[in-house]
Order: sequence, then C-alpha cells, then structure tokens
Amino acid sequence: MDGSHRDRLETLEARVPGDFTIGVATAALQIEGDAAGRGASAWDTFAAEPGRILDGSTPERTAGHIERLADDIALLKQLGVDSYRFSLSWPRIQPTGAGDPNPAGLAFYDRLIDSLLGAGIRPMVTLYHWDTPEPLQKAGGWMNRDTARRLGDFAQLAGESFGDRVDKWVTINEPTTVTLNGYALGVHAPGEALLFDALPAAHHQLLGHGLAVQALRAAGVTGGIGITNVHSPVVPTRRLNPLDRYFARVFDLVHNRVYADPVLLGRYPKPPLGAGALFRALTEVDTDDLRVIHQPLDFYGLNYYMPTRIRAGSAPSTQTPDGESEAMKDVPFSLVDFDEYPKTGFGWPIAPEFLERTLTELAARYGSALPPVFITENGASFADAAGPDGAVRDSERVEYLARHLDVALRGAPGVDVRGFYVWSLLDNWEWAAGFTQRFGLVHVDFDTLERTPKDSYHWLQALLAARP
Ligand code: BGC
Repeated sequence: MDGSHRDRLETLEARVPGDFTIGVATAALQIEGDAAGRGASAWDTFAAEPGRILDGSTPERTAGHIERLADDIALLKQLGVDSYRFSLSWPRIQPTGAGDPNPAGLAFYDRLIDSLLGAGIRPMVTLYHWDTPEPLQKAGGWMNRDTARRLGDFAQLAGESFGDRVDKWVTINEPTTVTLNGYALGVHAPGEALLFDALPAAHHQLLGHGLAVQALRAAGVTGGIGITNVHSPVVPTRRLNPLDRYFARVFDLVHNRVYADPVLLGRYPKPPLGAGALFRALTEVDTDDLRVIHQPLDFYGLNYYMPTRIRAGSAPSTQTPDGESEAMKDVPFSLVDFDEYPKTGFGWPIAPEFLERTLTELAARYGSALPPVFITENGASFADAAGPDGAVRDSERVEYLARHLDVALRGAPGVDVRGFYVWSLLDNWEWAAGFTQRFGLVHVDFDTLERTPKDSYHWLQALLAARP
C-alpha cells in the first residue's frame, strides 16, 4: 500500500457522508438454527446427501441465532450500525411454501424487528435467501414457474405482517448464484447440473421478483423495495484473444446481465453472435413476463466479492469459486485464477479495484435506469482463531473491509452509492463449505455458541462512532 492510500484508509470515518448507511448482513439458514421450528428446506435435503457439504455438516443448528437473539441484538447495538440486513426463513413462516403461516415463525421475526427498532437499527429484510421450502423444491423448485407465484404470495404475507416496520425490502438475494451453483453446476442445493438448460430457473426467479414487488406494494409496505444481484466483472485471460473475449462476453451475460438487464431495462441481453441457441430459454419469453419483471425499484442491491477471468477451452480442473463441479468439464470455457492478487480463505482474489469497475459498468450499462445503489454484501473469509489472550486478531479482514469501503465511498460517476453492508455479522454455515469458512465480524464457537467480537468488529465500531 502506498502512503496516500494508507492515509485515505486511516481517515475513512471522516469521509462517511451523514446520509450514508453502514450495516451488517446475515441470512436465515446460515445462522438461525432451530430446525425443529421450521419446515424442511431444499438445503436440508441437499446437506443430507453424502459428499455435498465439505465438512459433512447440516444447517440444523448453525450459529444458534434464535436461541441467542438477545445477545446478537446487543452485539448489533454495541457495534453502532445504522441498519441490519437479514432474511426471512420462508419455511419457518410458511412451512410448506404455501398456505397458512406458522404463528411462531411470524412471532420470531416480530420480536427481531421490534428489538432492532428499539435499538435504533433500521431493518433491511430479504424475502428469499436460498432456503426454498422442500415441497416446492420437490415440485421442481425454480425450474417450475409456479414457484414464482408462491414467492409472490409469500411476499404478500410478509408485507402484511411486517410492512409497517421494515425500512427496506430485498426480494431475492443473488438469483445468479442460485441458478449457476444450484441448477447449472450442481454445487449448491438442489444440486442439479443442467448447464445452460438451467436458464429457466433464472427467468422464474426474476418473475418471482416482479411478482414480489407487486405484492409488497399492494400490501402497502412503507419501506423501499429492491433486489440484490451479485456482480462480478468479467475479463478475458488473454486480452487480445478473440475467443477468450467471446466467452468472457458469454459469461458476463450468464453472471451479470441476465439478472440486471430485465430488472432495470425490461429486456434480456442479446447473446453474442453464435450463442443464441444457448440463451433461447430467455430470448423467447413472453413480453408480459418482462413487464412483470421490470418494476420500478427504490434501490438496487449490489453484492461484490470478486472478478472472474475467462479462458476459451473446456476446464482442465473442475474447481469453481464455490466447490468442485464435474459439469465444468462440459462448458467450452474455463475460469482462470487471479494469481497476481492475495487471496481470502476461500481462495477468492482480494481486488477492490474491481468493485470500482463494477460501479463504472453499472453506470455505463444502465445510466438513468439505475436507482440508488446499496452494496448489500461485501466481506471475506479467513481462518480466524482466538489467540492466547482470547482476542481474534483478524487484521486481514480489517484491511479488506477498509479497502472496499474506501472504493464504495469514492463511488463512480453516474452511480449514487448510498450504503455498505458487511458480510457478515457472525461466523456462519457457509453453504456447501459448511463451517470451514469464517466471514464474521464476530467469532462463533460452533460447539458452545459463544460469541467473541474480532478486531474487525472493534475497528468498525470505532469507525461508526467517529463519523462526523
Ligand atoms: C451470499 C452469502 C454467502 C456469501 C459468501 C454471498 O454469495 O449471499 O449467503 O455466505 O456470498 O459466500
């Protein structure tokens, strides 16, 4: 780091505008535990299959957030965040994914929301963060168009129950990841490896997003409404190689534009010449569906973790950022490492300049169609452990967060960045990686559930307190 860069990071707190939101984020299945108090989710079924979860763990208990609610609210309050982003467990509220709600499920979120408001923290609520109720999954999950209607109904129920108190609503978290990891590559639930035939799962999620926005508005919610997409700027491995460039464009569609274009512009992107057949599931959809998907939004949620580098030719290895996928062998391009960058515990490149590039690309692609942006997730996993004095000295995470927050605060021309949420408050159950990756500002002992704020927690706490 050069001197001016270090100075900028040291004075970060002075550069946070008064109306800029700083928060932390979590997701229900990753922290709640209390599996007995909810219906089954597609992830329970997936985790029960041998070899699906790296350490063989399940989402049954995770970080025990439900039993530790009071402690976790106290941690949020002491941290001093403006907002807390969490997700509703669909199977806890609607155990079968349809019909009457479970009163105990609704009561838990009432308690959570009221406690947050009591602590002066604005709730940002994600309706769907990947935990599809198992009966809906059995009927095809997101490959079945009816799941979109079910999400619309769930949104209505959530809007009627909590719409007077929620500050911001996110309909779906990262439909990209659900499609790619869950249906195309088979590394997340439900474990299908359909490659490009997975694209109906993208369309049905986007339709579900549109129906959910309509349902929330019809329920008269007072908060703003948006979606959260994960963006990864895509670069060709060999800058001048036409085939690398071609497949980089294909992957940019698959990862980014298929999800952002219809939401913000009301149309799917045009596939590059010769790739039309791969994208047919999207380019031949009914224009009425596109009208439903293209709802006016109050904000755009952006998750940023890393860039992607693409090389033409099928994969020499089957490694994806989230696990091994045999299916990668059958695609005509592969993902290439960013060896020039340091890596997180997951092996993801630490490259904040690509967050800047993401913002620039959003401005260039969507112009005035881009609503205010909230960075709804950014963070990193490292192998944190308590030292002999009990402290967890996660200086790499502090540096990671400072560098990315710095980019967020600088922003980019044409993008109105209004907030930044750290992923995550707590160490959690990291999907297919089980308990092997720790993303928290707070260390969790998964045997005793003991919470220990890490150095990164104290760093963010000091930054929040020192804002002008
Ligand atoms: C997801 C989180 C996940 C994080 C780290 C994001 O894609 O929204 O649920 O824990 O990445 O992998």
